[in-house]
Formats: sequence, C-alpha cells, structure tokens
Amino acid sequence: MPEDLVVDEERVAAVISRWAPLGRSGLLPCLEEVQEITGWLSPQVSQRIAEGLRVPLADVYGVISFYSLLYEQPVGRVVVRVCDDVSCYVNGSEAVVQACKAHLGIDAGQTTPDGEFTLEVHPCLGRCERAPFMMVNDREYGPVRPEDVPQILDEWKRTKEG
Ligand code: FES
Repeated sequence: MPEDLVVDEERVAAVISRWAPLGRSGLLPCLEEVQEITGWLSPQVSQRIAEGLRVPLADVYGVISFYSLLYEQPVGRVVVRVCDDVSCYVNGSEAVVQACKAHLGIDAGQTTPDGEFTLEVHPCLGRCERAPFMMVNDREYGPVRPEDVPQILDEWKRTKEG
C-alpha cells in the first residue's frame, strides 16, 4: 500500500476512535472529518464508521444522503459550489454558473476528465448578503461577477510544483 494511503488509514482510524464514545451524536462531525481526509465516503469507509460508532449502517447512509456536502461518490480535488437559490438567482447566479461551465468545460454535477474540478449548483449556502455567492472548497466568494470566474478558478489550478 502506498505510504500516503497508510497515513490516511491511520488518520481515519484516529478520527473514528475520537468520535466513537459519542455514538450517534458524533456521526456527523466524524463523517465530515473523515471526508476531509479521504475526499469522499466510500462504502468501506462508511462501514468502518458505522462499526466504530456502533450505529446502523443505514443511519450513516441517511446522514450522508441528507447533507449535500457529504459525498458518496468521488469528487474532484476542487469542488466549486455556486448558489442558485432566490437571492443569488435574482442577483445573477445563472450567469455565474454559465461562466463556470464555460471555463471548466463541464456541466453542473460533473467532474473534469482530469479529476481536478467538480461543479455543483446548490441551494442557499447561507451567505445571501453576498449574492451571487459561490464557494471553492472551503473558500468563500461573493458577490461574484461572471467575469471574475476565470481568475477565481485559475487560482485553484495546480501549480507546476503541484
Ligand atoms: S440564496 Fe444564495 S447564499 Fe442564500
């Protein structure tokens, strides 16, 4: 097993043991922390969390399905989330979504062929005062103009040094 995967395994095990005493109450924060390490929540990882926290696997899947920021499928290294709820929509989110699609060459819900970027259109992200609002991983942008999009996304491209 490659060294970074071994390290990830150990980090995942440490997170699960830390939340284990809380059982069901620790489920959401445990899932969030594990996903920060693994990028998404595979069936194997979900199973380990269910066993570690002693909760039914169905509960784990229930929480993952409920929270749109938890992923059951692999996503890109960089997840671009554009809000299209009311405040953002009336302030021009559609043009921001179009600019993202054009710049990345993908539709909403898709990942670029190199696995780098995933584009998502989201309901309210809770920053309506900054409409139209978008997030790139955990960084917040808003109000965003369509012409700002190329520069925002290009900042997230890997440098040559990686
Ligand atoms: S409507 Fe877009 S952040 Fe609330």
